[in-house]
Amino acid sequence: MKVTVVGAGNVGASCAEYIAIKRIASEVILLDIKEGLAEGKALDLSQTSTTLGFNTKIIGVTNDYSKTSNSDVVVITSGIPRKPGMTREELIGINAGIVKDVSSNILNYSPNTTIVVVSNPMDTMTYLTLKITGLPKNKVIGMGGALDSSRFKTYLSKSINKPSSDIHAMVIGGHGDTTMIPLVRLASYNGLPISEFLNNEEMDKVSKETMVGGASLTKLLGTSAWYAPGASVAYLVDSILNNHKKLIPCSVLLDGEYGQRDICIGVPCIIGSKGVESIVELKLNNDELNLFNQSSNSVRSMNESLKL
Ligand code: LAC
Repeated sequence: MKVTVVGAGNVGASCAEYIAIKRIASEVILLDIKEGLAEGKALDLSQTSTTLGFNTKIIGVTNDYSKTSNSDVVVITSGIPRKPGMTREELIGINAGIVKDVSSNILNYSPNTTIVVVSNPMDTMTYLTLKITGLPKNKVIGMGGALDSSRFKTYLSKSINKPSSDIHAMVIGGHGDTTMIPLVRLASYNGLPISEFLNNEEMDKVSKETMVGGASLTKLLGTSAWYAPGASVAYLVDSILNNHKKLIPCSVLLDGEYGQRDICIGVPCIIGSKGVESIVELKLNNDELNLFNQSSNSVRSMNESLKL
């Protein structure tokens, strides 16, 4: 199986690294516009194969889309990352142009591929990719919910002091500091409701930490995070290529689900070889539904600035 990762920055390189280390694909093409960057990172990563024990071929190219032909999955990470104090939404002007270019180039060489969008503002970039490529809606998937949920689970595990692998929880809604919705009501520790361990105030604190999880990292690092984003992409790509049919919150086109249409936003999806195999409709309570509607309104107004 062949995966292309567009953008050899921190996030793109982490995606390639985890896909190789976890032996998810046989070939990874890393593409960047900066002369030599993708080649250098691919070569460096390839040289970890004997010590880490993987056979994935990793090839770096400078803007040569012909090398990406017939990719089963393409991950788009290109664009500028946010700097401390910036929201993901502020990146729209520059990143929309980049994502437009990248997605049309990709389609020329892999007309039947499944695209995973990571570039920010992610929900809007997913919507843009869908419109530019004309791909069926099951083949364009925004990666945000997997990452936000992994942050949510990590904060929950810390606050109840239990292993993170025993925590189940998910974040839906937009992938923005004010638009994401950590579903605290449905979070559990090995099937036991999290509310048995945390009071309302503590649950609120975890939700808030989750929502600004990316921003907190940007402040610490001076640029946006890459380990957890890269690992979340690899998790998603694994479920597609190996048809695991995992339940993963992803930004996908809604057509009446959750009362919304013509918008890409985070909802729980079954992810398999067809890409989005189905959307799972949770029974949200009124508060959660209100938050979902507000989140959709923000994402929709961001989409309007694309002037499609
Ligand atoms: C983050 C970026 C990848 O949340 O959106 O870290």
